[in-house]
Amino acid sequence: MEQKHHTKVAFVTGATSGLGLAIARSLAGAGYAVYGGGRRPAPAEMPSDVTYVQTDVTSDVSVRKSIDYVLSVAGRVDLLVCAAGSGISGAIEDVPIEEATSQLDVNFFGVVRVVQALLPSMRRQRGGRIIVIGSIAGKTGMPFQAYYSASKFALEGFVESLRYEVSAFNIEACIVEPGDFRTGFTGARKKIIPEASAYREKFESVIAVQEHDETHGADPVIAARRIVQLADARHLPARITVGPLFERFAVWVRRVIPDKWFEAFYRIYYRL
Ligand SMILES: NC(=O)c1ccc[n+]([C@@H]2O[C@H](COP(=O)([O-])OP(=O)(O)OC[C@H]3O[C@@H](n4cnc5c(N)ncnc54)[C@H](OP(=O)(O)O)[C@@H]3O)[C@@H](O)[C@H]2O)c1
Repeated sequence: MEQKHHTKVAFVTGATSGLGLAIARSLAGAGYAVYGGGRRPAPAEMPSDVTYVQTDVTSDVSVRKSIDYVLSVAGRVDLLVCAAGSGISGAIEDVPIEEATSQLDVNFFGVVRVVQALLPSMRRQRGGRIIVIGSIAGKTGMPFQAYYSASKFALEGFVESLRYEVSAFNIEACIVEPGDFRTGFTGARKKIIPEASAYREKFESVIAVQEHDETHGADPVIAARRIVQLADARHLPARITVGPLFERFAVWVRRVIPDKWFEAFYRIYYRL
């Protein structure tokens, strides 16, 4: 396929739904040549100016194939947005280690695979931008979402380290920490709660609060617009938080107040 008049090329993972789809659409609208990945076939909502590339971020082969394809067609990738992700919930004690491992494989190693596959070409072209979608749950541990939180905390450290390593090649990286957005995430979440779980009652009430917040969350278009601004900014900051004001405020509060006060706030909020 011919590269059109666009100057910058973006590859977006998780572009078949939710935030990734909105980001792909906004980037295309802003003039980027956009390639969007996901496992399911391209959804009807994917704009025709986004080129779908089937990608499973848990597969080395699939990621390699997708990046090779995009590089062969477009010649370069200027912007990588890692939005692929999923969630599991359950008490720490109840979640089988295979499920916990799989959560890290999608949300953390899924980002690692794509970044590793793309860095050589970004280094060669001496420039590029990497935006990783983290979460507010990567700033503050969420009850009954320990493995999801752990995967997003891991991304915080990963992106900080990445920034030091790649700046000499004119490559910048940023982690975007969304609060609650209305996407397919809630419906796709896997709930692990055995019949006889000692945590069942608390799990159900906490998850109900979390799901209510998600389904009443912000429009993904808001995050997408912010990411386009970021992509075109002079420099990428290490991190930004996007989402409802109250949640952005909570992340700031988390930073400045003692742990035990924040914990007390969460205990009240989630009725723990
Ligand atoms: N929605 C929120 O409130 C919220 C808040 C904080 C952070 N986030 C983060 O935002 C990101 C996007 O989530 P979303 O809210 O937009 O949820 P979503 O609507 O469920 O979209 C998730 C996307 O990730 C893709 N994906 C999942 N597993 C994949 C895999 N193994 N390989 C490739 N793609 C995969 C899905 O595509 P396929 O199913 O086609 O593979 C889909 O495109 C995630 O990292 C999530 O943790 C969301």
